[in-house]
Amino acid sequence: MSRTGRVPELFAHSPEPGLLMHPDDAARRGLKAGELVRVSSKRGELVLPLELSDEVGSGTVFAAMHWSGQYLSSGGINEVSQPAVDARSRQPELKHAAVRVEKAEFSWHLLAARHGDALALRAAVQPLLKDCGYAGLSLQADPHAGDGGAWLVLRAAAATPMPADWLAALDAALSLAAGPDTLEYRDARRGLLKRVAWRSEESTNFVDGLLWIDTQPGGEPLLRTALAGGAWRGPRLAAFSAVAEVARDPVVCVCRQVTESAIRAEVRAGADVPVLKQRLGCGTVCGSCVPQLTRLAREVASA
Ligand code: FES
Repeated sequence: MSRTGRVPELFAHSPEPGLLMHPDDAARRGLKAGELVRVSSKRGELVLPLELSDEVGSGTVFAAMHWSGQYLSSGGINEVSQPAVDARSRQPELKHAAVRVEKAEFSWHLLAARHGDALALRAAVQPLLKDCGYAGLSLQADPHAGDGGAWLVLRAAAATPMPADWLAALDAALSLAAGPDTLEYRDARRGLLKRVAWRSEESTNFVDGLLWIDTQPGGEPLLRTALAGGAWRGPRLAAFSAVAEVARDPVVCVCRQVTESAIRAEVRAGADVPVLKQRLGCGTVCGSCVPQLTRLAREVASA
């Protein structure tokens, strides 16, 4: 993410907020990647999705400070860290805190996404975040959008279903109320609500938005299909059932716009990181993708 969080392309390195934990520490605690965890210290607490990474040492966890109240239901990781600043310069001290991490249990889960002016969508949705047990927004670039359109993605959870007026406000913010181009599937007994908004171009259908509410997290395959931006094959109603996954090909090196599939192909052909740099140019500008290149090279080579 950039300092201002206003450029969807720059979310490619770290598209979602998260707490990084070493896989061994997570296994010892029975935690899995993607689960929501409560991070608490003597100063405060917040909820974040868990990410597993061997880039953090065992016994420590990490969360980027850039994910703030602009994007989260909480104020971000500063909720649990120290407020100390240098008395003269007011420069904050290096942020650290002793924290406890536990699984956060919620029985209501929401996934929503909308294509369009992502910054305007973010401004409309942001006031609703604080009402949820957890809510996180991210911007995702649309590689096919000539008009500069992008995606706003919202993940939220709560201990009990959010009230009807909150849902109506979300529908209004994302223009996701049911209608001729927004199909709906409801199962009130199971607490299920799914909506898919469609856009047609030259009689071809594209997913333009989605809302997925369930007692468990769900809707990820449909989200991946939507973010991939390809044409929808088959009837619109099929979006509510099992969705054929369209693999997303994330951009790993933002500076050189090099995708994960291109890097994997080179590594399979024998390239290591120096050769990747030489052949694809990735990792040769700001260098912030080099840890990811190293991880991919190691992962593909050992597969
Ligand atoms: S992201 Fe800057 S060099 Fe790859």
